[in-house]
Amino acid sequence: MKHLAVFASGSGSNYEAIENAFLDSNKEGCCVSLLVSDSPNAFVLERAKKFNRETFVFNPKNYENKEKYEKDILDRLIKHDIDLICLAGYMRIIGDTLLEAYQGRIINIHPALLPSFKGKNGIEDAFDYGVKVFGVTIHYVSKEVDGGKIIAQRAIEYYGNSLQELETYIHEIEHELYPETIKKLIKGN
Ligand code: GAR
Repeated sequence: MKHLAVFASGSGSNYEAIENAFLDSNKEGCCVSLLVSDSPNAFVLERAKKFNRETFVFNPKNYENKEKYEKDILDRLIKHDIDLICLAGYMRIIGDTLLEAYQGRIINIHPALLPSFKGKNGIEDAFDYGVKVFGVTIHYVSKEVDGGKIIAQRAIEYYGNSLQELETYIHEIEHELYPETIKKLIKGN
């Protein structure tokens, strides 16, 4: 059985999509074991309650530096025998402590077709730029923000003028593509 940890800072709709995809953990050979959040008030924690999921919630301000809190996270990852870390709206740069311990085993979802529109507002930035082909990228995490080798992408054309509508379409793609990609990775390894 493979064990996943999901890291999230906000709403957690992608976290929930991953949980739902692995409800039958025996069939999938994989289960979500831990949710990590850097934000004690994040809605993702409400979602985690529905799944009785163990969580590790930390406040970075309570630590001297990134190395210290990442060591704390790492202890939990080891305790839960985590094979793969899935970042799902985790709005922090992963530091050397986690990158070295989980090299090649940390993935991220980004709501744009990388390498375009990196950063926190991928959908809005692409919309403001006026592009007509939008999409979602799943990639390995490296030292560079929203960098790292691309694993999967899915594109849609959008000619409308509602950012909200576009966001809905992008999130629909995310909720399909992320679990699908995790399943492929798990089976491949
Ligand atoms: C998602 O759209 C994800 O792609 C994005 O944060 C959102 C989290 O939503 N991540 C990034 O922008 C990473 N640069 P969620 O909390 O509802 O899953």
